[in-house]
Amino acid sequence: DGIALWGGRFSSGPSPALARLSKSTQFDWILADDDIAGSRAHARALGRAGHLTDDELARMEAALDELQRRVDSGEFAPIEADEDEATALERGLLEIAGDELGGKLRAGRSRNDQIACLIRMWLRRHARTICGQLIDLVTALIGQAKKAGHTAMPGRTHMQHAQPVLLAHQLMAHAWPLLRDINRFADWDRRADASPYGSGALAGNTLGLDPQQVAAELGFSKVTDNSIDGTSSRDVVAEFAFIAAMTGVDLSRLSEEIIIWNTQEFAFVKLDDAYSTGSSIMPQKKNPDIAELTRGKAGRLIGDLTGLLATLKGLPTAYARDLQEDKEAVFDQVAQLETILPAFTGMVDTMVFNDARLEEEAPTGFALATDIAEWLVKKGVPFRHAHELSGACVKLAESRGVELWDLTDDDFAATFADFLPADVAPQVREVLSTQGSVDSRRGKGGTAFVRVQEQIADAEKTVDAA
Ligand code: ARG
Repeated sequence: DGIALWGGRFSSGPSPALARLSKSTQFDWILADDDIAGSRAHARALGRAGHLTDDELARMEAALDELQRRVDSGEFAPIEADEDEATALERGLLEIAGDELGGKLRAGRSRNDQIACLIRMWLRRHARTICGQLIDLVTALIGQAKKAGHTAMPGRTHMQHAQPVLLAHQLMAHAWPLLRDINRFADWDRRADASPYGSGALAGNTLGLDPQQVAAELGFSKVTDNSIDGTSSRDVVAEFAFIAAMTGVDLSRLSEEIIIWNTQEFAFVKLDDAYSTGSSIMPQKKNPDIAELTRGKAGRLIGDLTGLLATLKGLPTAYARDLQEDKEAVFDQVAQLETILPAFTGMVDTMVFNDARLEEEAPTGFALATDIAEWLVKKGVPFRHAHELSGACVKLAESRGVELWDLTDDDFAATFADFLPADVAPQVREVLSTQGSVDSRRGKGGTAFVRVQEQIADAEKTVDAA
C-alpha cells in the first residue's frame, strides 16, 4: 500500500481522478538519487541541531544507503499510490527504518524546498554532460576546419552568391555560437549555485537547521537568500530552458546548412553511410536524417521554453502546484539534447567535402563584384561611383552570359573611362580570383587564411579553457 504525506485533517482519501492528476512519479522519479543525497544532508543537519541522536543518525544513514541500493537495483520503485518521488522515497525509508525512526526525517523540510533544490542539482549535473557533448561537437567542427585548409566556397547572403569565403571560415561560424552556448551554461551555473534547502514550505524552518552545511554537502557554494524566492522562483529553470533552446536553434542552423550542402544540386558534402538513413520505397535514397531530426527537435526545445514561461507568468509568489510543471519541459530538453549531440557530432566528424566543387563555385555568380568596387576605391574612385562601375561590369557580363573575368581589357577600359586611364583599368584582373579575394580580407575576423588560422587557434584555446 502507498502512504500519504498528508491526511490528518482529511476525512477521505483522494478520489482516483485527483490521484491520477496529482501523480508525478512517471516523470520525477529520475530525481530519486538527488532526493536521497538531500535526505542524507538533511539528516545530518537534524543531528547537528539535536533532533537526531548519534545512534539515530547512524541508523538513518544506513537506512538511506539501503534505500539507495534498492533504488539502484530496481528492487524499490514507485507504486501507483505514490503521489511523487518524495512520497515514494518516504515509503521506501519507512519500510527500511520503521515508522519511529523513518518518520523523523521529514522534520524541518518541505517538498517545496526539496523539489526546488533537487531540480537545480539535476540540471547542474546535466548541464555539465551537455557541455561535454558540445565540446566534442566543436572539436569536430574545428577538425573539419583544419582539414579544409585553403579551400574556398561561395559565401552567401540571402542564399545568393555574395563573396568567396574559406570553407574553414564558414564552419567556424558555427563553432563560435556553440562555444557561447557552453559559456552560457557555465554562467548559468553560477546563478543555479544556491541551495533552497532549509527554506521549508516558504518561510524558513523553526528547528535551528544549518542550511549552509546542507548546501555544501549537495555541491552548492551558498544558500538562497530568501526562502520565498528559493521555493517559488523558477527563473533558474527557465534560463536553463532558454540556453537549451538556443543550443537547439544553433544546431538547427548548422543542420539546415548541411541538408542543403548534401543535395544533388549543391553536392558540397557527402555524409557517411553510418550517419545517413535510407528510404523504405526508394532504393537510391540516402537521407540526412540526423540534421533533419535536429532541425525538427529545435522546434520542440523552443516549445519547452515557451510552455514553461507561460506556466510561470502570473503565478502568486510562494509555492503553487503549477510549479510541478517545470520539470517535464527541461527533462525533455535534456533528453533530446543528450540524444542529438553524439549523433550530430558523428555526422560532422565523418562528412566529406567536395573541395573541387566548392572551389569551382566559389567565385561564380559575380561574387567578385565587391572586389572590383574596392579595387577602384584603392585607385581613388569614391565608393558610390565604384559600386556603380562594378555593377556595370556585372550587367555587361550577365548580358553576355559570362563571368566577370571573361570581360576584355577594352570592356574594363570603356567602363572605367571616366575615372581611370585605359592602360590602368585592365589591372583590375589582379583581384578577379578567389584566392586574391579571400586573402585580401585580412582584418580581424576576416576570411583570409591567416585570420582563419588565428580564429581556429583561439577557438581551441576556448575549448581547452571550458
Ligand atoms: N511534486 C511537487 C513539485 O514537483 C512538490 C510537492 C509539493 N506539494 C505540495 N503540496 N506543496 O513541485
